[in-house]
Amino acid sequence: MSRQPLVAGNWKMHKTVAESEAFIQGLLPRLTTADNVDVVICPPFTSLEAMVDSTRGSRVEVYAQNMHEEGSGAFTGEISAAMLSELDVHGVILGHSERRAYFGETDEALSNKVVAALEAGLAPMLCVGETDEEREAGTTEDRLRIQITEGLSRIDDAQLASVAIAYEPVWAIGTGKVATSEQAQEACAFIRSLIAERSEEAAAAVRILYGGSAKPDNAAELLALADCDGLLIGGASLDPESFGDMVAAG
Ligand code: 13P
Repeated sequence: MSRQPLVAGNWKMHKTVAESEAFIQGLLPRLTTADNVDVVICPPFTSLEAMVDSTRGSRVEVYAQNMHEEGSGAFTGEISAAMLSELDVHGVILGHSERRAYFGETDEALSNKVVAALEAGLAPMLCVGETDEEREAGTTEDRLRIQITEGLSRIDDAQLASVAIAYEPVWAIGTGKVATSEQAQEACAFIRSLIAERSEEAAAAVRILYGGSAKPDNAAELLALADCDGLLIGGASLDPESFGDMVAAG
């Protein structure tokens, strides 16, 4: 089965609305290559509506960076799935390692977020990945198994392929220390094998992305890996030229 590559930019806590607009005006003219790559930007909440408007009619899809698992309630500072789908947001990143590390995001909460996103018609992108200590201790696969098994525990096998998985080793994020091709391929293949334990069909269809110091000069090599179907890019997605180059590598 051929899986359409997905190249996504996670802006994290960067860009005001004005800066987001400047980015998208710089990016759109650069997306001239064949549209056989799905292009996603993940701006902060405050820029979502403007980015949905500015990308309408283009091939760029807009994802949020997080959402709450409940439909509504006394959760000051949080955003629900319905609030995102009302804005015509296409999808949502769930379980980024920064949210897990700094905001106490648990696999249990994520399993509910995946359900809530799908119910609202949002495409979830579930992030997983081991820390430096876990890789050194040889427990990478244990960590990935827990994150994948628990994160996807509340959805049916038929829904598995609707979730994109982003493999982001924590030690590679923002460090300039990209995983080697062997490390990235091994982890992406392992994640696919975990999906295959539930459904071979879903495993063949599910998109698995790599993230962590992906840059224009390593994008093509990562995208060529058998089990890597895309990139989740932090720093290098903030500039339309470098992000556009990475889309072109897909
Ligand atoms: P960098 O590309 O800046 O390493 O960030 C990766 C990331 O966390 C994307 O979600």
